[in-house]
Amino acid sequence: MQVQYDISSTKEQALRIFEICGHKIDPELASDIWPKILQHKWVLSEKIARDVGIKVACIDFIENVLSTDCHLHDIQKNKMLNRMGAQILDESVWETISESQPPKQIVNKRIVLPLTQERLAKKHGVALPRTIIFFGPPGTGKTHFARAIAARLQWWFIEVSSSDLTSEGADRIGSKLKDLFEVARNLDEVVIFIDEFEEIAESRDNASRTEKSITNEFLKQVPMFRREKRKNLLICATNYIRQLDTAIVRPGRFDCIIPVGDLDPKSRALIFRHYLSNTNHGDVDMDSIIPKLFLFTPADLEYLFCKISHFAFEKEYSESREFKITTDTIIKMIEKCQPTLTRQNISELEEDNAHYTRY
Ligand SMILES: Nc1ncnc2c1ncn2[C@@H]1O[C@H](COP(=O)(O)OP(=O)(O)OP(=O)(O)O)[C@@H](O)[C@H]1O
Ligand SMILES: [Mg+2]
Repeated sequence: MQVQYDISSTKEQALRIFEICGHKIDPELASDIWPKILQHKWVLSEKIARDVGIKVACIDFIENVLSTDCHLHDIQKNKMLNRMGAQILDESVWETISESQPPKQIVNKRIVLPLTQERLAKKHGVALPRTIIFFGPPGTGKTHFARAIAARLQWWFIEVSSSDLTSEGADRIGSKLKDLFEVARNLDEVVIFIDEFEEIAESRDNASRTEKSITNEFLKQVPMFRREKRKNLLICATNYIRQLDTAIVRPGRFDCIIPVGDLDPKSRALIFRHYLSNTNHGDVDMDSIIPKLFLFTPADLEYLFCKISHFAFEKEYSESREFKITTDTIIKMIEKCQPTLTRQNISELEEDNAHYTRY
């Protein structure tokens, strides 16, 4: 049967032609390259001085333009990355973390080095990492570490928050997870980061039927993700490691389970200097300030500087003369801030550390 194609063909027609030509492609991509095919049809017709059918133009475009210019697969991949909000982050993100900040050394040795020194890793039988969990109190830098890894490797960074998965109701989470993993396991050089991951991997004991099915879906997808021998990473972060299902944390599903907790004084000073450099400041005596920041997380330091900057701005505005931040301004502001960490959650983290950490 002769199929009729008109010039204002729709996405469905475009897809149909691709299918007839033996190519299964992404619907959005089909409508993107459709105008190019129509143009190609015109060029080809001019070249051979006779009207070329759309199917011939389509086959010729796929075989001679797409396969030489760039691979269909690459275009599809870029499209997919775009849709998932993938970003390439600046390499400097890795340098914002001091060498002494836990767990930078662990992350470097267990994750970054095997992926950047692949031949040496292979020689010694070191398996490339695929799946990682970061756990720890809020604001300690779990997301920041995931971003820093992507930045260091110069891989795409895709963040999936649990709200992305829950946006269409609890009943759809399982199928959304399935869709996500279907895409993720076919991508190379990508870090997929799932935040608040206890929401999709919580313990099945005492869970509702829907919650159980979500955890089951996740448990099913992780081994499938690992089976594809690709260079990509799945990083999950949680504040509540104790809430995860025991089957998630047992060896075999995740290569590393890494705590992200308290800062050491050097790291605190590096982060402090980073935020200080964005302000209008005079001499600042770090030695008297840093010990006062005990129990402050990176997020607390960010908030502290947000308050300091506002204070300085308002002061200069109301007094109409230059205002520079001093040691005294900072100490007064520290006294008004409540750090996130407490001695209790540090000791809880130590317990979790002993129980769950694995790398
Ligand atoms: N060296 C650093 N290490 C960690 N975080 C840093 C560092 N420097 C700056 N930050 C900033 O600290 C803030 C808090 O970090 P982040 O959002 O990664 O915490 P989190 O552990 O993911 O928090 P949550 O549990 O609430 O998701 C971020 O704005 C991050 O950019
Ligand atoms: Mg986070």
